[in-house]
Amino acid sequence: MPATMLQQVAKDLHVFPGAKHLPPTYKDPISNPPTLPEAQVSDGSIPIIDLEALHGPRRPEIVKQLGQACQLQGFFAVKNHGIPRPTVDSIFDTTREFFHQPKEERMKFYTPDPNSDIRLMNAYKDEVANVYVARESLKFHCHPVEKYVDKWPTNPPSFRKSSAEYLTNVRRVEITLLGAISESLGLETDYIEKKLGGHYVSLNYYGACEESNLELTYGVRAHTDPTIITILLQDEVPGLQALSEGKWMDVNPIPDTVVVHVGDLLQAISNHRFKSLLHQAMVNCEKERMSIASYCYPSSDAMIGPPEKLIDSDHPAVYKDFTFKEFSEQMWKVIAFDDARLNSFKCSAA
Ligand code: OGA
Ligand code: NI
Repeated sequence: MPATMLQQVAKDLHVFPGAKHLPPTYKDPISNPPTLPEAQVSDGSIPIIDLEALHGPRRPEIVKQLGQACQLQGFFAVKNHGIPRPTVDSIFDTTREFFHQPKEERMKFYTPDPNSDIRLMNAYKDEVANVYVARESLKFHCHPVEKYVDKWPTNPPSFRKSSAEYLTNVRRVEITLLGAISESLGLETDYIEKKLGGHYVSLNYYGACEESNLELTYGVRAHTDPTIITILLQDEVPGLQALSEGKWMDVNPIPDTVVVHVGDLLQAISNHRFKSLLHQAMVNCEKERMSIASYCYPSSDAMIGPPEKLIDSDHPAVYKDFTFKEFSEQMWKVIAFDDARLNSFKCSAA
């Protein structure tokens, strides 16, 4: 396959921090798509978790709700997350200003190197599938902030301050959620937290598309996230869809909430009790849309297989023990858009 095509395919997947090389083998996720339902949209409702209530006497009840949402839907919204409204407004203002800059300014962050600490990804046309993928995104490492802040843009001037403020807040939300998710699995509160390593963020910008292009234009195509969890902050413009009970469901923005997805790695840690969420983003012709995705990753030597506590004769281990490093290497060998990334770590694959 020509290198340019390989890059196109890789572009549509998540930029995966720490990848050491481009994949030696190639499996086209586009020409070999999953059986996805037609554009039939269900009116299912989004479970809403009250984060503040986790700090009070209702904790056991909220933990249970969280576990159920992860198990049944694979995603939920979080209210009372404590991220101040001005912090949210400011990260969106900064993102808008960044993407409204002239292309030369944005392209300063373009690099084909997947190991770069910061990387701009452009919208592009997929010649194979004949579709346009409209998302432009700026992806960067962000934890600890002090280690990476010098690599971040200085234009717009608000960039570093607004990003640091939002990311510090979202990290706190992430730790609280991971504690409750661990408990919902019957594990120690810090079971998942102890595995944490990096944190990677993607500022996503979807320009309003030309009407004539609409049938051929996606925001981002269907994928699961190769993360433990992803915390997605959406602006007020709809676009996100999740696969729920075999149908695409609009996950429209709910004011003052963030959306949380189960990622592939939580699927493995939970011994497949939780399933990573297949989701996609659509574009519209009227309004630009922005979202901020925070991807939570383990450290490279963290073990990801299911803990003993989740394995018994009724629930045999679905996955072997493997490190995050092994997962990352595998991810670049088997280019997949979904949890097929985990296949070689299944016990039955031994
Ligand atoms: C992502 C993602 C969806 C959106 O960044 O991983 O799926 O609505 N984003 O922007
Ligand atoms: Ni995603």
